[in-house]
Amino acid sequence: MKIGIYPGSFDPITLGHLDIIVRASGLVDKLIIGVLQNNAKKPLFTAEERVEFIERVIKEKTNLTSVQVEAFDGLLINYAAQKNASIIVRGLRAITDFEYELQIAQTNHKLNTKIDTVFFTTSVEYSYLSSSVVKEIAVYGGDIRQFVPDCIVQSVYDKYNSIRSV
Ligand code: PNS
Repeated sequence: MKIGIYPGSFDPITLGHLDIIVRASGLVDKLIIGVLQNNAKKPLFTAEERVEFIERVIKEKTNLTSVQVEAFDGLLINYAAQKNASIIVRGLRAITDFEYELQIAQTNHKLNTKIDTVFFTTSVEYSYLSSSVVKEIAVYGGDIRQFVPDCIVQSVYDKYNSIRSV
């Protein structure tokens, strides 16, 4: 069975991530979406919330049955090996992503030559899109409906509302 890992912060999942999930799942028998738990980027959403958002999106927006979502901690390459994955999936939006992604992919390959990183070029309509952009718009109450799956739009606004009411 060919297993792939699609790792990321997913803070929150965007339509760009969903596009990669759908395309990458065609490449493997099982795609594990690994949500990084203790992220130096200090995520807005807890790992549990990010996992739940992705599960909700997979359930409501796709008919994929070969996708599993879970949080992970520590080195990605160790997590991938533990899951018997043979590929790591990453999306490339623009040349600005490339240098960082190349370095990480090469380092991971040095650490474990049995696991390769496969890059998906993001679909053109999502090439500008990132979770950071979504948060920047949402914090000012802007319209994020064209950036994240509709089933999580309200949850993103709710998070900012709950932070403001503390
Ligand atoms: O969505 P992101 O924030 O671009 O995802 C980055 C991620 C989670 C893929 C990366 O930070 C990662 O793999 N972190 C786990 C620690 C690790 O293995 N780092 C790379 C060692 S060179």
